[in-house]
Amino acid sequence: MQPSWEIKGFLEVNNNRLDINGVSATELAEKYGTPLFVFSESRIKHNIERLKRAENFIDCKLKVCYAAKANSNMAILRTVKNANCDLEVNSGGELWKALEVGFKGERIIFNGTSKEIWEIENAIKTEIYAIQIDSLFELSLIEETARRLEKRANVSLRLVPEIETNTHSGLQTALLTSKFGMMPDEALSAFHQYRDSDFLNLCGVHLHIGSQNPESAPYAEAFQMLFENLVQIYEETGIKLSHINLGGGFPVNYLRDASHKNFFPEAEREMFAADFEPSDAIKNAWEIVKESADASNAAHLLENITLLLEPGRSVISDAGICLTTVRNRKERPLPDSRFDYQESKIQNPKSKIQNDVWLLTDAGFNILLSMETYKWYYHLISAERASEAHDFPYKLAGPLCDGGDVYFDIEGLGRLPEYRLLPENVQPNEILALLNCGAYSIAQMFQYNGRFLPSVILIRENSEVELIRKRDDFEDLITNDIW
Ligand SMILES: Cc1ncc(COP(=O)(O)O)c(C=O)c1O
Repeated sequence: MQPSWEIKGFLEVNNNRLDINGVSATELAEKYGTPLFVFSESRIKHNIERLKRAENFIDCKLKVCYAAKANSNMAILRTVKNANCDLEVNSGGELWKALEVGFKGERIIFNGTSKEIWEIENAIKTEIYAIQIDSLFELSLIEETARRLEKRANVSLRLVPEIETNTHSGLQTALLTSKFGMMPDEALSAFHQYRDSDFLNLCGVHLHIGSQNPESAPYAEAFQMLFENLVQIYEETGIKLSHINLGGGFPVNYLRDASHKNFFPEAEREMFAADFEPSDAIKNAWEIVKESADASNAAHLLENITLLLEPGRSVISDAGICLTTVRNRKERPLPDSRFDYQESKIQNPKSKIQNDVWLLTDAGFNILLSMETYKWYYHLISAERASEAHDFPYKLAGPLCDGGDVYFDIEGLGRLPEYRLLPENVQPNEILALLNCGAYSIAQMFQYNGRFLPSVILIRENSEVELIRKRDDFEDLITNDIW
């Protein structure tokens, strides 16, 4: 039977082994060592094209700006650039990387809550498309800086839309209690104050309703809210904005293989299994806004507008796979009560396990931080026995000297499955693959426990395998230490 995680031409079983774009995952693991991140150029391009399809359903220009925070490896940024996708950066460091890769200023937007003067200077000097402003104080800093540089800064004001989505609490960014953005009335006062500024080009409004949003409806609500602000700004100040930025947050279906679905509480299940076409969400949002614009004689405000999106996860998550080796195995008596395996919903003839079988891998939360901070789920398969029945339950953990370095919910709140299903008799040295690992993984990795940061490779469209990050060596562990 074909495993449901397969994606034709990308993730496939070949002779019981996992192939990624036709390249054997186990051979890659052997050649480059594990943990190893493998990215697919064709999948990245596919994901960008999927997002860009939204342009077919709206009557204005669309600018898709990949959120570099999700993964800003230089070769990944170059791939994004070559796919004609623009870029959202979140720091002077990411801005520098973007420029190094060759993005022109007009293809870059710059977010962030705590920008420093040198970052603002660089953003202004390189004439980026928009600096997205988080507060009135920050706007005054930008005005001062632009004045000093005798330049005009393009700015877009980030609003607090007060929209709650059904995503993870740590990924909500649009609430009154979230740290981002300014209230709409503050923004309006800024448009009044700086309307005639020679140093600020007030060109847009922005919001971001959070990451991994499981429903598409909040996008319509958010677009409507931005549009109402756009109208009010025009009516009160005469300023016609040139863009609206709807942010990112389009979800990835982490449970496409549904074998573990029943082990999640409902809210987590719905969030991880979220799956909608971004272009459908945008189409719907556009239609609603267009209708209200027509009804209020404000359609002219949409005429020359550009709609911006800032997707990260939906571009890079499923394009990245983490290969890991089982380094250790042990058995423990089943705990008395914490999880009643017999009573669980696993349809598994082998449910009469006597002991917990633990597999200790070389992929811990130092390379997949969200597993610990957000109890994030990455589906796990055997890369060596990909077509065998995955029906034997294991406790999985990483290599770190930290009790939280496990693939289940250590706090006992059941937000993740207690067990992972893999083929029977997994032994040390077997290569496993964690799927959908491309976003917020290597972007957040660190050398805890003196662990070498992993190699990263990119499989090009022509199937050539390119090393895009070399594994750390001993010297890398002390590069910046002074001793
Ligand atoms: C302002 C902003 N834009 C875009 C993104 C990208 O979100 P996602 O990766 O969910 O598409 C984020 C992520 O948190 C963000 O904070």
